[in-house]
Amino acid sequence: MEYLQCTFILWVLCFEAKYLYMLAIDGICELGTMEDDQWTMVQKKGSQFVVNDQPFYVNGFNTYWLMVFAADQSTRGKVTEVFQQASSVGLTICRTWAFNDGQWRALQKSPSVYDEEVFKALDFVVSEAKKYKVRLILSLTNNWDAYGGKAQYVKWGKAAGLNLTSDDDFFSHPTLRGYYKAHVKTVLNRMNTITNITYKDDPTIFAWELMNEPRCTSDSSGAKLQAWIEEMAVFVKSIDPKHLLEIGSEGFYGPSTPDRVQFNPNTYAQQVGTDFVRHHQVLGVDFASVHIYADSWVSQSITDAHIPFIKSWMQAHIDDADNVLNMPVIFGEFGVSSKDPGYNSSFRDTLISTVYNSLLNSTKKGGSGGGSLLWQLFPEGTDNMDDGYAIVLSKSPATSNIISLQSRRLTSFNSLCSWRCHWGCKKKIHSDLETALNHDDL
Ligand SMILES: *[C@@H]1O[C@H](CO)[C@@H](O)[C@H](O)[C@H]1NC(C)=O
Ligand SMILES: *[C@@H]1O[C@H](CO)[C@@H](O)[C@H](O)[C@H]1NC(C)=O
Ligand SMILES: *[C@@H]1O[C@H](CO)[C@@H](O)[C@H](O)[C@H]1NC(C)=O
Ligand SMILES: *[C@@H]1O[C@H](CO)[C@@H](O)[C@H](O)[C@H]1NC(C)=O
Repeated sequence: MEYLQCTFILWVLCFEAKYLYMLAIDGICELGTMEDDQWTMVQKKGSQFVVNDQPFYVNGFNTYWLMVFAADQSTRGKVTEVFQQASSVGLTICRTWAFNDGQWRALQKSPSVYDEEVFKALDFVVSEAKKYKVRLILSLTNNWDAYGGKAQYVKWGKAAGLNLTSDDDFFSHPTLRGYYKAHVKTVLNRMNTITNITYKDDPTIFAWELMNEPRCTSDSSGAKLQAWIEEMAVFVKSIDPKHLLEIGSEGFYGPSTPDRVQFNPNTYAQQVGTDFVRHHQVLGVDFASVHIYADSWVSQSITDAHIPFIKSWMQAHIDDADNVLNMPVIFGEFGVSSKDPGYNSSFRDTLISTVYNSLLNSTKKGGSGGGSLLWQLFPEGTDNMDDGYAIVLSKSPATSNIISLQSRRLTSFNSLCSWRCHWGCKKKIHSDLETALNHDDL
């Protein structure tokens, strides 16, 4: 926790109606009481995340395999390492899988049958995250086959004699909806065997995610997925009203916003049965999730044209979050694969800086740009898990510096704004803040 020196002039930063107001109060030397570093639940206020009523703009990362690595003593240390390294560059949010359906080292071996040892491994992940002051976004299943996901739920349904014809039956068949809900209920009600805190009461958990990258190509109208989100969001909240919830969506625009589909990376994006704005208007969904993969959506070959796409994709979603949804938006995955033709590490650094600067453009106005999560951060010695996107900090000092700088900017912004305003504020956006945010020495 940083403390500011009190001088003759106290600059008071106030948050009000999304604008920053700055007042110079001569001769007053009242130190705003810095809150103790309390580990409390993240909440949201309008389009901002807040902790203890103070803004919480975040810099974060993904490491999806933490539970599976924690399940084996010989690899468990990697979990600790990644949190340690992440916290050394100021990352405070990690998104990871709280599912492994029916696969190797499955958490859920078959519907409602759990491997207690793997659950204890997830307990370890949660407990270890807290030690390094990292909060977790826990995803509850996958659209893709990796770690089971909707295809595994359909296999289970078939094995139970259901007449299922598509993996998208996951979204619509009542029995499969029931399997998924049972999983949600089990995870949320889990008592952590290390901390003795029930997951649904644990502030280490930043948010629940319904599914990694849900798509429902069997219904391009988006209606089938919409109905599933409506049912599941309310279900999660009925068990756990305290935590925030997000969908896990990639962010493609759909039929509800014909004027926005121009921002999609390609025309196929309209055929995958998702509808960004409509999905995020569902009761119980607290913040928006968007992924950014120019190399998978625009062209696999790296070109400088990826950069303007990233800017306009982010700006479009930030604008929606500010003006239509009134909720924060997290760019939950972004990165570039070193296996792409034309890849070089300076392009990766440019891409990361682009995402960070676009976000900061919103942050410094107190806007909805709540944070971004790198895909993905790995400790050393886990190359076998690398899909090309892994960032190993010790091997990439320039990238580390970019990440660190963004963390410092956001931390500084959050802590400057933690000064409570006790006076009526005048609308005055002060350039000092901008200078502060853009200064490398923060
Ligand atoms: C299974 O479902 C499909 C489509 O929903 C239907 O056409 C088919 O007749 C069903 N088969 C059986 C054996 O019920
Ligand atoms: C959790 O509960 C067990 C059994 O009641 C107790 O032995 C243990 O010390 C507790 N651990 C913590 C971290 O509170
Ligand atoms: C890296 O790739 C980008 C995008 O293709 C290119 O513009 C840039 O010149 C490359 N830089 C180096 C050092 O090769
Ligand atoms: C910053 O945000 C404004 C809208 O609030 C937008 O017009 C502008 O293009 C953004 N700048 C960058 C660099 O993203």
